Amino acid sequence: MKKPLEFAHQVLKEVIKSDDIVVDATMGNGYDTLFLSNLTAHVFAFDVQNEALLATEKRLSAAGKNVIKISASENEKLLTENSSVKLILDGHENVRKYIKQPIKAAIFNLGYLPKADKTVITKPDTTLTALSALTDLLVIGGRIALMIYYGHEGGEQEKNAVIHWVSGLDQKVWEVFTYGPLNQVHTPPILVILEKK
Ligand SMILES: C[S@@+](CC[C@H](N)C(=O)[O-])C[C@H]1O[C@@H](n2cnc3c(N)ncnc32)[C@H](O)[C@@H]1O
Repeated sequence: MKKPLEFAHQVLKEVIKSDDIVVDATMGNGYDTLFLSNLTAHVFAFDVQNEALLATEKRLSAAGKNVIKISASENEKLLTENSSVKLILDGHENVRKYIKQPIKAAIFNLGYLPKADKTVITKPDTTLTALSALTDLLVIGGRIALMIYYGHEGGEQEKNAVIHWVSGLDQKVWEVFTYGPLNQVHTPPILVILEKK
């Protein structure tokens, strides 16, 4: 059986082509950023922690990828950069400041950065602001995957907020699915997938 993250990667891989623009909304240690950068060079990755940018830069450089780091005050760098993976030190709620073009896919990995400050977590308001912006930018046939970790304090509220929001999307325009285990004693992550029809 596929784990939720493996399934998330599979459904994104099915639609991403090499000239597509895609977003990693929660860079963390860069596993999803690397996954996306193996499919297209046009990756925008966001995180609020410099630690995440450094870990991701290391991971991508080791894999031979071109990387550019961008902080909140220098987004004009984007105008001249086309072929590097963009690692953006800013919250995903500000995605519209950086991305004006239509996107094909996005991934969120909600929660905290493993082995780092567990008080820096994704939050319902900012997550929904980003999700709303990214669903607007998404092309028809594009997909968004949300891996929802919710075992930590505040996680359950964020999970409920996301599920409530996506459940309200118009079924004429959106396909919305969940995938995750139902019989486990701990709180393993669940996956929510959206596709614009
Ligand atoms: C579960 S981790 C992501 C794991 C990552 N996808 C990976 O492959 O390693 C969640 C990340 O979201 C980041 N985060 C928290 N609030 C954020 C926000 N408003 N915008 C972007 N990232 C945020 C945290 O700093 C943390 O690194």
